[in-house]
Amino acid sequence: MKIVIGNDHVAIEMKQALQAYLEEKGHTVVNTGVDAPPCDYPVIGYRGAKMVADGQADCAVLICGTGLGIGMAAAKVKGVRVCTCSEPYSARMARCHNNANVLTFGARVIGVELAKMILDAWLDAEFEGGRHARRVAMLEEIDRTGRLAAAEE
Ligand code: RB5
Repeated sequence: MKIVIGNDHVAIEMKQALQAYLEEKGHTVVNTGVDAPPCDYPVIGYRGAKMVADGQADCAVLICGTGLGIGMAAAKVKGVRVCTCSEPYSARMARCHNNANVLTFGARVIGVELAKMILDAWLDAEFEGGRHARRVAMLEEIDRTGRLAAAEE
């Protein structure tokens, strides 16, 4: 897979460790984060999400202190579905049910080894489609139109 990895100044060491981990697994990794401080997490979150939305990468892994700010910025980009995860179960389900294409987590919240487990759970899982496809289509409708017809019935 082609994976964007991005981070702010809080997550430099974690980003470097995870980039090496993903490359060892055979993925092509594009580093859009910083390797020297400081920076503003919205810039990194927007940039990574935009690359996924524009089809320049299959998915993005974005890391700040909590995973929250960078995830909020990413979620404002149309065409992405962002999950912020601190454990592998949610990461797996975010792919199986929500077809999430952007994963965020916090370098001040979890360690590198747990981050690897979360990454594996997310990347190894597959979207289940079926009833979940209908729900993901609703998310896309909100993205596209700013409304959801099913909620207005
Ligand atoms: C930076 O201090 C911190 O605010 C940032 O890494 C992130 O946690 C924001 O959500």
